[in-house]
Amino acid sequence: MSQHRRQSHWDDRYLATGGTTASWFEAEPQLSLDLIELVGATPGDSIIDLGGGASSLTARLQQGGYTDLTVLDVSAQALDTAKQGVERPEEVTWIRADLLAWSPARCWNVWHDRAVFHFLVDPDERRTYR
Ligand SMILES: C[S@@+](CC[C@H](N)C(=O)[O-])C[C@H]1O[C@@H](n2cnc3c(N)ncnc32)[C@H](O)[C@@H]1O
Repeated sequence: MSQHRRQSHWDDRYLATGGTTASWFEAEPQLSLDLIELVGATPGDSIIDLGGGASSLTARLQQGGYTDLTVLDVSAQALDTAKQGVERPEEVTWIRADLLAWSPARCWNVWHDRAVFHFLVDPDERRTYR
């Protein structure tokens, strides 16, 4: 799938569902929060949520004291919805990009991906992601 098609595909999904009625949406990202704790992350650590969509994970992490938070998504619609749920969106780095054509300019302590990698069905795309 081309970058443009991927962008409009996901924008359409978020426009159609408002984000929060999408099948994958979870009101409380408890498993992700538990896993982040399990790997030993603390509020001093940096976290990126790849393909974060409209998830409330970043909002919850900010409430928990995390200050170095980044969300990347190919869909501007998704990022707009996510921003509305965050108390201090100006303190989060929001990146609209196709992760398959993106070169990270830094490192993060925690790389979080829920339901993004498994959407890549093409082996070349999986290799590029890794
Ligand atoms: C199934 S949703 C999961 C959203 C979120 N992680 C959650 O748990 O609610 C997949 C997300 O990945 C994003 N996405 C898909 N392919 C992407 C790509 N190549 N680059 C960046 N984001 C992508 C979509 O826009 C969508 O927000």
